[in-house]
Amino acid sequence: MADKKLIVVVGSTGNQGSSVVNTFLKDTAWRVRGLTRNPASSKAKALSARGVEVVQADMDDISSLSAAFRDANAIFVVSDFWGIYGALVQQNKHTSEQRLNLLAGESELQQLKNAIDAASQVPGLERFILSTLSNVTKWSRKKYTHVYHFDLKARASAYVEETHSALWAKTSLFQAGLFLNTYVESPNFIPHKVNNDIFQNEDGIAQFITTMAADFKLPWIAAEEDTGPFVKVLIQEKPGKNLIAYREWATLREMVQAFQEASETKSEVVVVPRSQPNEFLPPDLKLEIDEGFLYFEEFGYEARDDPTIIHPKDLEEPPKLETMEQYFRKRDFSQIFST
Ligand SMILES: NC(=O)c1ccc[n+]([C@@H]2O[C@H](COP(=O)([O-])OP(=O)(O)OC[C@H]3O[C@@H](n4cnc5c(N)ncnc54)[C@H](OP(=O)(O)O)[C@@H]3O)[C@@H](O)[C@H]2O)c1
Repeated sequence: MADKKLIVVVGSTGNQGSSVVNTFLKDTAWRVRGLTRNPASSKAKALSARGVEVVQADMDDISSLSAAFRDANAIFVVSDFWGIYGALVQQNKHTSEQRLNLLAGESELQQLKNAIDAASQVPGLERFILSTLSNVTKWSRKKYTHVYHFDLKARASAYVEETHSALWAKTSLFQAGLFLNTYVESPNFIPHKVNNDIFQNEDGIAQFITTMAADFKLPWIAAEEDTGPFVKVLIQEKPGKNLIAYREWATLREMVQAFQEASETKSEVVVVPRSQPNEFLPPDLKLEIDEGFLYFEEFGYEARDDPTIIHPKDLEEPPKLETMEQYFRKRDFSQIFST
């Protein structure tokens, strides 16, 4: 055991982290420590059964992170903006002065700072991989200032650079593209075959209803499959990379075409005006999402003007990944269409 390298994975029960776990479990040169708030959960127990050293840690508690990071050769850190936002909604934290999405972002930033501070104290650490996103306020030159789930992650990566030079020298940034699973799992994004007063859809077409324009290129990733292969390459190659990670660079319409091929169901994008209310999103979150979509179109999801950004093809050995269509072929379409 002692001769194996140790990777510590924050978010090991989630999309990105589980993929990192799966990749490193297959490599006998590594052992894997997976962090969770609840080692008794079914996901955590399943990791344990597969040989992961499951350790309890909470990103709100820096001492738990310091203990969990002990002896790490590599650390992968991801934060969960939407989980924090959901918890604030449950706790009914809304007041007229406090936007919950801003509160969630601030909480996410503090969690990331805790993980960064703890990682900076690990003596033998060789590589730190931070899951982050681009700074919308900065790269849109303050045109869009409400995309907190991007901005606060970007502030965390800036924090590594500004306050922890030794850790920064071992760091690579992993920017996950848009998750494909959102478009087959999340009620707000999955295709609908509804036929009502607003949407005439008598032919049973699978409609992806969105406020995002359909014909500009985006990075698409199957986070639960692709994160691990990318993170492994980032650990093997030199640090200092800022990777926009994706399996295909495609428009929303092309992604929906891949869904159509896989599902053998006629599928289309329906772009609705941003002024139309959304039954699933409170106004503050709708503004955050709509501004995000406009930013992706005008400035690039990854901030196309950021000179540090690299694409998968710029890696020395880019991982071999499946296509979007292959991803969709593995879905249970009857379940998607019954949601
Ligand atoms: N959807 C997209 O298109 C997209 C694209 C790029 C980036 N993202 C970002 O991806 C992030 C979510 O990542 P994901 O989808 O990989 O995660 P996920 O599947 O939503 O799972 C969340 C993970 O975070 C862990 N976690 C949450 N709070 C924690 C805490 N306080 N301490 C320790 N662990 C904690 C959870 O572990 P336990 O519950 O076991 O404790 C779980 O493993 C979000 O911040 C989102 O902004 C999303």
